[in-house]
Amino acid sequence: MSSNNDLFAKCLSFEDAKKVQAAGVYPFFRPIEATSGSSVVTHGKRRVMIGSNNYLGLTHHPKVQEAAKNAIDKYGTGCTGSRFLNGNLALHEELEHRLAKFLGKESCLVFATGFLSNQGALSCLMGRKDAIYSDRENHASIVEGTRVAMSDTVKFRHNDMEDLERVLKLTRNDYEGALIVADGVFSMSGDILNLPRVIELGKQYNCRVYVDDAHALGVLGPAGQGTEWHFGMPNSADLVMGTFSKSFASIGGLVAGDEDVIHYIKHKARTFIFSAAMPPAAAATVLECLNIVESEPEHHARLWKNARRMQKELVGMGFSTLNSQTPIIPLLIGEDLEAFTFAQKLYENGVFATPVVKPAVPDGCALIRTSYMASHTDQDLDYVLEVLHRLGREFGVIGAGSRQGELAELARAHFGQKTSVKSSESSLHASPSAH
Ligand SMILES: Cc1ncc(COP(=O)(O)O)c(C=O)c1O
Repeated sequence: MSSNNDLFAKCLSFEDAKKVQAAGVYPFFRPIEATSGSSVVTHGKRRVMIGSNNYLGLTHHPKVQEAAKNAIDKYGTGCTGSRFLNGNLALHEELEHRLAKFLGKESCLVFATGFLSNQGALSCLMGRKDAIYSDRENHASIVEGTRVAMSDTVKFRHNDMEDLERVLKLTRNDYEGALIVADGVFSMSGDILNLPRVIELGKQYNCRVYVDDAHALGVLGPAGQGTEWHFGMPNSADLVMGTFSKSFASIGGLVAGDEDVIHYIKHKARTFIFSAAMPPAAAATVLECLNIVESEPEHHARLWKNARRMQKELVGMGFSTLNSQTPIIPLLIGEDLEAFTFAQKLYENGVFATPVVKPAVPDGCALIRTSYMASHTDQDLDYVLEVLHRLGREFGVIGAGSRQGELAELARAHFGQKTSVKSSESSLHASPSAH
């Protein structure tokens, strides 16, 4: 077979990952032998985990673990079918009611994952004559949803409301229905969507608004209810999507909104109807996390205390953190190989974090994505700061004679830094104001 028409030719010539492996800095698929959430054991050694989305640190909460075990005893290990047919548990419905109440929405639908929630909801709502207005930094599952949907997709510059208005002005009249879609908290840069302006533009240009709150649930708002609550605008977006794979210590996803819209999605979303239901232990885990979010606000408070401290200290050291306002704090490093090497050095020094390289970020803007949890102790964070400070200087990322100024310029040029209606500092204080 000639290599021109062999479907697998691309696999045989795919060298990118192999080159990183050969350089001894491959950071992916590291087998975790044991974990407490905030630290993991890999290659026989304990490392502080700063690459997880376990924001509230609830994966190892004794009540959560007990609830998951009890659900297995009561319902077994799996649902062995779609909720549409044989897999719908009373537990799923209880969870939907609780979530709708927590989010301040009329109704909620629970999917097997967040990815399937985005893909299913977007593709079933959008018709041939409609348009999705999508932020350029939206998560891959939104991109996937826009690709499966029949509608056109019009992209706007990341969190840039002038650009959103520009594309709306230019194209809105070409379509029937329209939906503005954006992450509430952007997963790589950690900045917060300018929701108040998105809502205004939605009204002005007759668009529905869909917010992906995967990284906002459990984090933003007085009790972690998400981006709408962070801005004091509950129920302002038409649809909110969320995932249980982060603060809610489980797996699964949700879409919440008005009853008729959720009813429609429930009967039309192919990723919901033709995919097996979220397992019982996973659903029970989320229910117990909701109980804990309501009864133990100290986890949310501790998350923000840790996030504030790391934000302040990392900016103080001179790292370029892309104006992050959340517990996701990216550190701009530069070229891909440097970021891989930086991550490898972190790993060798007992800190687990992952690099983010192109195409996820622009060429020359590779990052180390760090994220912090309620369960990190002061000692964990002291240690992480000491290692980051030492390596930051060693790599010429911070300190006298470093590329600090050049990196700050790169951040301005590629990530805009003009991201939110609130400054970094005021946002950090805004969300946990209830405490
Ligand atoms: C912004 C965003 N949306 C959706 C998802 C998908 O969620 P899940 O992990 O539940 O499939 C993720 C997960 O990485 C995410 O970061």
